[in-house]
Amino acid sequence: MSWVSFCCLFSMSAWCWLPAGCYSNGKVTKACGNMEPHHGGQGQSGPSPYRLTANASTFSPGDHIQVKLSGTTHFDGFLLQARDAASANSGSTVGTFTLIDSVTTQLLTCNKQPGSAVSHTSDAQQTEVGVIWNAPEHPPDEVQFVVTVVSHYKVFWVKLPGPTVYKQGVTPHPPESTTKPSVHTTTPAPLPGPFVSDGCGQSKSCLLDPPGCDPKEDGGCFFLSMTPLETDKVSVIFELSGPAEGYIAFALSWDTWMGNDDVYMCIKDEDRVSVSAAVLSGRTHPDDQTQSGLSSVSWRLADGVIQCRFSRAVRLSNQEPGRYDLDQEYFLFLASGNVQFGKVWKHNRQPLISTHRKLITGRPDVLEGSRGPMLMKTHGAMMMLAWMLTGSVGTFVASFYKPDWPNQSLLGQKVWFQVHRGLMMLTVMLTTVAFFLPFFYRKAWSKHAGVHPYLGCCVLALSLTQPIMAVFRPPPDSHRRCIFNWAHWAVGSLTELMAVAAMFVGMHQSSLLLPSPWATHVLIGYVTWLASFRLLLLAQKHLSIKRSLRSDEQQFILSVQSEPSGWGSVIKSLILAVLALGNSAFLVALLSSVVNV
Ligand SMILES: *[C@@H]1O[C@H](CO)[C@@H](O)[C@H](O)[C@H]1NC(C)=O
Repeated sequence: MSWVSFCCLFSMSAWCWLPAGCYSNGKVTKACGNMEPHHGGQGQSGPSPYRLTANASTFSPGDHIQVKLSGTTHFDGFLLQARDAASANSGSTVGTFTLIDSVTTQLLTCNKQPGSAVSHTSDAQQTEVGVIWNAPEHPPDEVQFVVTVVSHYKVFWVKLPGPTVYKQGVTPHPPESTTKPSVHTTTPAPLPGPFVSDGCGQSKSCLLDPPGCDPKEDGGCFFLSMTPLETDKVSVIFELSGPAEGYIAFALSWDTWMGNDDVYMCIKDEDRVSVSAAVLSGRTHPDDQTQSGLSSVSWRLADGVIQCRFSRAVRLSNQEPGRYDLDQEYFLFLASGNVQFGKVWKHNRQPLISTHRKLITGRPDVLEGSRGPMLMKTHGAMMMLAWMLTGSVGTFVASFYKPDWPNQSLLGQKVWFQVHRGLMMLTVMLTTVAFFLPFFYRKAWSKHAGVHPYLGCCVLALSLTQPIMAVFRPPPDSHRRCIFNWAHWAVGSLTELMAVAAMFVGMHQSSLLLPSPWATHVLIGYVTWLASFRLLLLAQKHLSIKRSLRSDEQQFILSVQSEPSGWGSVIKSLILAVLALGNSAFLVALLSSVVNV
């Protein structure tokens, strides 16, 4: 709970208009963590007129250091803490203070440690206060003093960095954050190292991609964690990291569609990261990025990984229309992409979307997500089934098995014909249904999908031509029958070629990105497999024609038919079975990667 909501509880008004009555007693322990007064409005971002000084730069355990807050102009209130410089944003304090003047200053209990922070006692205007900091028995190497100063009700500076003091024997770092007047409300600070997935499901909820990855070990790990703060129950700490060119972001959404979402972005700006929130009204750039509502911001850039951390109040004031409360269930989106001129570009991969809604303030658990929308997965799976198995075996049968099983019939028709027709009908049906799924998903033409949707249209159109052509085919004894045969073969081959090409480009689509180059290799393997069987049977066909020529069986030559018998027939059936099995194996390999997208 922030200072203002604390006092608002008593004043029973949405806004506290009586500054003197709000925090003037200085009992501001509610602000221990983020040190924000929340006086309605943002902290000042310009240089502050206040300075923190210490009378020493090194210390030993148990030492006393005098810390002074002074200003070129007076202040109404302040909150002073000493923090571990390595994790200045973690909110944990170091050591205790002793008062010099107990009339104007008082000790506060932060993190259950009495005397770990100092504040004012009244709104009496002051220009200088001093206190003594006592180093603990087991101090961290570097301790930094930080102070929030309220000049006047709405004019305040949050977490002004003060001097850093070092434990005896520790070589001081070049003081960067202490000299920079970076004094925004969300004064960003560097993070000490990568986030860890230890504690996921125990102390925090995590969304990880690939599942179970640890950002500490794996630079390719996308990581989002949410830690509801036990101490105050009014804010949640978010940690977000992942490999990204320009930005990494997550969104809270009521549904699995982009639009009307509450988005949080960590945007790389040369060698810095800025963290902001926005309301995403449609499938466009986020508008009106803001930093309000975010506190304790820290970040890190290393090895192509963008990392940031911040805390957000569970409920935001009604000054933030469209922003969501955290005590509700949402789908979580995780996305990354490029940035140009500070503007966030479309994510370069499909966002990872949690498979379930998650109560942000709820019990810690490990969430599962997927980058492949169900409709697109189904589309891919059906198309692969159609063109790697049914269509492929169906055309293979028509190309090479017409003379086989001459004495058997299936439902009153030749065996090859029934198998061919059955498989091809299935292929056309699968293709037709699968074709429309992306339209249901996108609700429009897939604009950024390159040549793939055009190939898809051709495949569908040609696939539908085939059965129509077949229905109106001339009778077998007609002299136009060979025109049909030729056209049916040509259109079929063209369709199959286009379908295979569509599969090659399809597996690089962002909405169903299969592991690369593994999936491409599987498909190359499949094409090679199919081609070698075709070559084998072509060779066999030619050999048998030659043999027939030699044995003067003219009537068979004319119809390019030679009747294999006995062992030849068995071997050919076996070849068909092996082909179908091999195709299935390639298909299953790709389907399993579709499932895991
Ligand atoms: C700083 O001030 C404290 C308290 O007055 C004192 O105990 C300490 O010796 C001083 N340190 C230095 C280096 O002057």
